[in-house]
Amino acid sequence: MIADVDAAERRNGMLEMLERVRGGDVRALARAISLAEDGGEGAKDLLDACRELAGGARKIGVTGAPGAGKSTLVDRMARWLREQGKTVGVIAIDPTSPYTGGALLGDRIRMQDALMNSGEGIYVRSMASRGTLGGLSRAVGDACLVMEAGGRDVILIETVGVGQDEVEIARLADVTVLVLVPGMGDEVQSLKAGVMEIADVFVVNKSDREGAERTAAEIVAMQGLSGQGEMIPVIRTVATTGEGVAELMEAAARGEGECRRLSDPAEMQEASWMGELRLDHLGVAVKSLERARSFYELLGMKITHEETVEHEQVRVAMLPMGESRMELLEPVGEDSVIGRFLAKRGEGLHHVAMKVGDVDAMYLRLKENGVRLVSDRVQVGAGGHRYFFVHPASTGGVLVEVVGA
Ligand code: CO
Repeated sequence: MIADVDAAERRNGMLEMLERVRGGDVRALARAISLAEDGGEGAKDLLDACRELAGGARKIGVTGAPGAGKSTLVDRMARWLREQGKTVGVIAIDPTSPYTGGALLGDRIRMQDALMNSGEGIYVRSMASRGTLGGLSRAVGDACLVMEAGGRDVILIETVGVGQDEVEIARLADVTVLVLVPGMGDEVQSLKAGVMEIADVFVVNKSDREGAERTAAEIVAMQGLSGQGEMIPVIRTVATTGEGVAELMEAAARGEGECRRLSDPAEMQEASWMGELRLDHLGVAVKSLERARSFYELLGMKITHEETVEHEQVRVAMLPMGESRMELLEPVGEDSVIGRFLAKRGEGLHHVAMKVGDVDAMYLRLKENGVRLVSDRVQVGAGGHRYFFVHPASTGGVLVEVVGA
């Protein structure tokens, strides 16, 4: 009986810890991962509980030879994600190679300092690549699980080299980024064996150096030779300045399935952005829903749904029209977005909403191209739909809403 009480207490303690992890407590997260690493009975309980909560985190593996600048690149990727409002977990596998160990470890500690100072949105965990109980990939998998259950949006897994461990870890990741540097020459050729199949995105880092273009071209040519009809994107970055990191993240966001099905890079580009682009709805600001509806009803349209969105102080009536719909928007309060719009501009078209296949990718694409956005991130609306607004200054005078599919 005493043992059972102990077990129950231990379990309660574990659930409490997990609760704190989910609340963003970084120390609790560190403790939970240590508990998982210890491997005892507590670890099993914890991992079971995590399995029920996990799902939804995007796991990006970053691998490549020592000296390719992966730590700096991962640092940039993490910051970039943080700027998008994502919470990030980083799992960094410490090198075991004696001649690179010291230098890289120093980098790692500097990176950890920098990242930890940026707040709780980024958590970095280093793991030894040798002497891990039950194997490295298992330990990394467990740490991923804890981070995912803890609500991290994206997990970056940095490994060194391209050995068997890395191949196994790549299998854990949704997307694997293989980092190369200019002037690898024969090494690009040797990549064909073993590594080719794990890469979903190639990066030529240190692209400000001579030979970057040639290395990128060689990777493209090598893919052509493999004759599989699948083009894996090749992105050029300069991790020290952050150049190319946004493009890299776009490629990683698209994921393997999509990029690999299509052979023509131009077509690939188009399809992922434009695939499902269509008119979703037109938002019309009106003083009175009651008055406005009669015209649309004369047209033969029907209000299928009406609701008051409290936090936006607006009453919305939806009128389907084929695949799209009209939304009549009546202000509930004077000092609401629609209320102010009416006071300034009078009744009329308020916004045009377009539906895209990948709202995150579109957000990045517009932002990277200097389009003025009203939203500082992709927002989540009623029913979990995701959207952002583009400023009329960039669209020819109309407020554009971009909605995810
Ligand atoms: Co709308």
